[in-house]
Amino acid sequence: MNSETSVSPSLLACDFTRLESEIGAVEAAGADFHHVDVMDGHFVPNITFGPVIVQAISRLASIPLITHLMISDPAKYAERFAEAGSSALSFHYEAMDSGHEDVIELIRKLGCAPGLAINPGTDFAAVTHLLDRIDFLLCMTVNPGFSGQGFISEVLDKIEKARDYRDEKGLDYLIEVDGGIKPENANLVREKGGQILVSGSGVFGSADYTKAIGEIRGTGG
Ligand code: DX5
Ligand code: ZN
Repeated sequence: MNSETSVSPSLLACDFTRLESEIGAVEAAGADFHHVDVMDGHFVPNITFGPVIVQAISRLASIPLITHLMISDPAKYAERFAEAGSSALSFHYEAMDSGHEDVIELIRKLGCAPGLAINPGTDFAAVTHLLDRIDFLLCMTVNPGFSGQGFISEVLDKIEKARDYRDEKGLDYLIEVDGGIKPENANLVREKGGQILVSGSGVFGSADYTKAIGEIRGTGG
């Protein structure tokens, strides 16, 4: 990582008929990680893809995959997504009533960096007891399910809270932010403490991936 902000294009917004060239194009444009959105049609009202496709992405990729599990039973499937080539696996706090510690531990045992994702409506206070166990906190700035939704700016306060809490407590989780991030609003996310900025339509919907990634990172095109 050669700057404080990493950019992670969400492949959900790519042209899947040209998956290989899209992967190559965002890597050439300076992407730090691929963001891989797994949806099960149960935790969220949309279905994307499973481990077979994640494995294909991993074979084509030369940067790490951060897999975002928007599924109801992360404990059941974590191993398959780890084996498929994910370097990091995040799962949702809202997916279960209890047992988050066990899933975090499982992900680490599988050799992946564990991340905890929280929906826009979930209070930061709900997850503070888990923060010393994770490598990254994923703050959603849209309700998960679809690419191309509008950025929910109310979440900015939560991002700032997550940064201040981490610094006060001497913790070391990274803050990933996902949903509706574009070159036009990425500076707000960076200012509040976002470190890994995910962008789907903001990158793949742009005419110039290098420019979009540079602007989201804050280093220009
Ligand atoms: C939403 C996904 C996001 C989404 C990002 O459910 O988790 O990663 O694909 O796409 P944009 O940047 O278009 O909101
Ligand atoms: Zn995502």
